[in-house]
Amino acid sequence: MNKSIFISLEGVDGAGKSTHIQFIENYFRSNNLSFFMTREPGGTTLGERLRSILLHDDMHPLTETLLMFASRCEHINQIIKPKLGSNTSVISDRFTDATFAYQHGGKGIDIKAIEFLKNIIQKDLEPDLTFLFDLPIEVSMDRLHKTRDMDRFEKEDQEFHQAIRSTYLKIAKNNPERFYVIDGTKSISDIQQEMNEVLNRFFS
Ligand code: TMP
Repeated sequence: MNKSIFISLEGVDGAGKSTHIQFIENYFRSNNLSFFMTREPGGTTLGERLRSILLHDDMHPLTETLLMFASRCEHINQIIKPKLGSNTSVISDRFTDATFAYQHGGKGIDIKAIEFLKNIIQKDLEPDLTFLFDLPIEVSMDRLHKTRDMDRFEKEDQEFHQAIRSTYLKIAKNNPERFYVIDGTKSISDIQQEMNEVLNRFFS
């Protein structure tokens, strides 16, 4: 089968994205579908250098927004467009919805500035499908504290993460044609069954 689609995965930190990315990878592999896994910020050599700066160095929220889009510009032109153009599906761990959620919802950057940058950098490129893993903040923060050394974003307070969750849910409500919201409190097997059904709609 030649069909290639662009999938993005979103959610608050600690929502369980990493577990489900593995499932998507297995889906593509077992169905013999050509795919490429990638992430933002990152995905290219320069993007990965920007990622380590973004996750660890303090900076003004506008600088942070510009660097997210700098990473995205490289990612779109070096990876996403060429892969989709050669019939390879792209699965990206986060994309532009994260900038609306974190830099607008969380850090208060003017939404018009983000829309302006988005229009210049990605033009009409949008994911065909976005899985949003949604979870109450108390649960996601509890998971974060138990599982890893936290980066600059993960260390933010509960109010910040709550604003991100609400912004993601608002974006999903406004873009029902591409969003699929997953209730992250369900069991892993229920979530994966749901994801399987959604993916089958694109590839059957
Ligand atoms: P990750 O932990 O999902 O790999 O993402 C890295 C962090 O970067 C995560 O806390 C969310 C944040 N982020 C933004 O703030 N804005 C963005 O545009 C993107 C893509 C990620």
